[in-house]
Amino acid sequence: MVQNKFNLIVAACENSGIGFKDKLPWSLKNELKHFRKMTTSTADPMKKNAVIMGRLTYFAIPESKRPLANRLNIVLSNTTAATDYPHDVILCSSLNEAMTKLIGTDLGANIETIWICGGSRVFNEAMSSDYCHRIYYTDIKAPFECDVFFPNISSAFKIIPNDEGIPTDEQEENGVKYQYKIYEKQQLNNTF
Ligand SMILES: NC(=O)c1ccc[n+]([C@@H]2O[C@H](COP(=O)([O-])OP(=O)(O)OC[C@H]3O[C@@H](n4cnc5c(N)ncnc54)[C@H](OP(=O)(O)O)[C@@H]3O)[C@@H](O)[C@H]2O)c1
Repeated sequence: MVQNKFNLIVAACENSGIGFKDKLPWSLKNELKHFRKMTTSTADPMKKNAVIMGRLTYFAIPESKRPLANRLNIVLSNTTAATDYPHDVILCSSLNEAMTKLIGTDLGANIETIWICGGSRVFNEAMSSDYCHRIYYTDIKAPFECDVFFPNISSAFKIIPNDEGIPTDEQEENGVKYQYKIYEKQQLNNTF
């Protein structure tokens, strides 16, 4: 059964920019491969992962590449209808509705990890949610013109060592340097 937690995955440049004119501001093929590997890989070969994203993030994916293959695609929107999407995309009106569809249900029984893929409002809501476990963050060490930004990461999150074979050293592609980081949300300590 799906764990009742989710992870965020994001690539952000200097000033926390994540998007420009409904697209990614950069072209980093290996970084996209990292996104695909992280969101697709499962320990149990019988299961797949779910990706949850806002409407604009879904339509920012090139038409030929959406829905994202080998993952259960869930889109959040209140202005579109299920008929606007391929039949295997699940449309939800809120993050809570998406989680309700996945936790303790037949649908969720086949899901291993739930990934929150943006954009800005979804990330913001996800980070403050009790469901939030980790942020898989690609720190792009360059400025890009952006009109969408990743929200501030609160002190509830601490950087933990990279695992799952994620490189720890600085990556470079097309002259752009970036580094993979993992933030984990700390559990509230109730002992006073
Ligand atoms: N760098 C990265 O890692 C990364 C990741 C994701 C996206 N991006 C970029 O970010 C941009 C898109 O992000 P965005 O923030 O502008 O838009 P977005 O969150 O993808 O889409 C916004 C729309 O999604 C729906 N929505 C969002 N949160 C919702 C919620 N909690 N409940 C119900 N519906 C919700 C609403 O749709 P309705 O208006 O239909 O109700 C809203 O208008 C693009 O440029 C994309 O390329 C970058």
